[in-house]
Amino acid sequence: MPLGLDTITVLIQCLKIWMNGDNGDQELEFRDIFDAVINLYRMFESIKVGGNSNVQLRNTCRLRLNEMKRVYGNDLPNASARIDYSDLYTQWSYMYVYMLRHIHLVSYALDDTVGNGILTDPEARHSPTVCMIGGGPGTDVLGLSVHLRKYGHKAPLRSGVYVLDKYTKWQIGWELLHMFLPKRYQDGIPQVSYRGFDFKNNELSVEQQQILKKANIVTMIKSLSPVAAWLKERPKLYKFVIGPTGRPTSTVYEWHSVFSILKHMKKGAFLLYIDNRTGPQRRILMDAVDCFNFDKLYDKVLYDQSMPTSIFSPKANQFKREINYNPCTVAGINEVILVRKK
Ligand SMILES: C[S@@+](CC[C@H](N)C(=O)[O-])C[C@H]1O[C@@H](n2cnc3c(N)ncnc32)[C@H](O)[C@@H]1O
Repeated sequence: MPLGLDTITVLIQCLKIWMNGDNGDQELEFRDIFDAVINLYRMFESIKVGGNSNVQLRNTCRLRLNEMKRVYGNDLPNASARIDYSDLYTQWSYMYVYMLRHIHLVSYALDDTVGNGILTDPEARHSPTVCMIGGGPGTDVLGLSVHLRKYGHKAPLRSGVYVLDKYTKWQIGWELLHMFLPKRYQDGIPQVSYRGFDFKNNELSVEQQQILKKANIVTMIKSLSPVAAWLKERPKLYKFVIGPTGRPTSTVYEWHSVFSILKHMKKGAFLLYIDNRTGPQRRILMDAVDCFNFDKLYDKVLYDQSMPTSIFSPKANQFKREINYNPCTVAGINEVILVRKK
């Protein structure tokens, strides 16, 4: 196959990064993002939300942190163990424990798909329209931005960044965090629009369909596992159509929300999925992928992928001691799948 101009551009970029040494700048990106999470906590302290003293604030956040670890530490074993993300302190606790971990995972996975991933598509790398399914905290787009910046694509994401999530109050958490992000990220992600979406509704609203039809990058990062046990039980509805041979054949007509998401994605759009290996979520996704015309570009298991501790600034290390709680730095076993609709 001849080497296209796009592929050559990506190869040159890879070569430059390799020659200049890899992760220096990226570490700075992670540091700055995590510092923003700390600064958000400092803001809670200074404005004393709800008249809470600093001790009350710390106790509240520690309770939320423990709850978070209890639920996610066990791979969501039962349906009742869900977290309500409407509460701002719960949102902050998630950002503190898991957000950086997942941003790192997203950017790492995208870096690994560089030869055949989104960088090979001019529209997706210069001005992507992004739809994050269950992307409440903004993790997915931050990971994407770290990746794009690493490869020299620093244009603001102005074509549209959308979150479809059960908890739209994440928008408050995102907007507060956004104020503390480095200016390059404030400018780089000028606006994120939140719309309600629940994996438990089989079909998408017209507005959700329109968002998906526009997106050239769709992400599903750690959002399928919490609902996978439920989705697994959903029945398929079939309809009969006359096939090319003139004989009736059956096709899936209606199923669960993952099926609907893939159905409404536009041709050429990428879907990045990352989630825990244990659980039925991979099967749910791949069964739905098989109903449509997708190219599988990447399918890999990442084992205990860990972040270097140098990712934390002196300020962050001081805060970790103060709150006596460590953010998650090791990712466990995750599956990364990148597919593209044909
Ligand atoms: C573990 S967090 C992952 C967030 C982000 N993608 C990340 O990787 O950091 C799970 C996300 O799924 C959302 N969520 C939970 N249940 C949902 C449901 N039934 N439908 C849609 N989103 C849901 C949560 O609000 C949250 O944003």
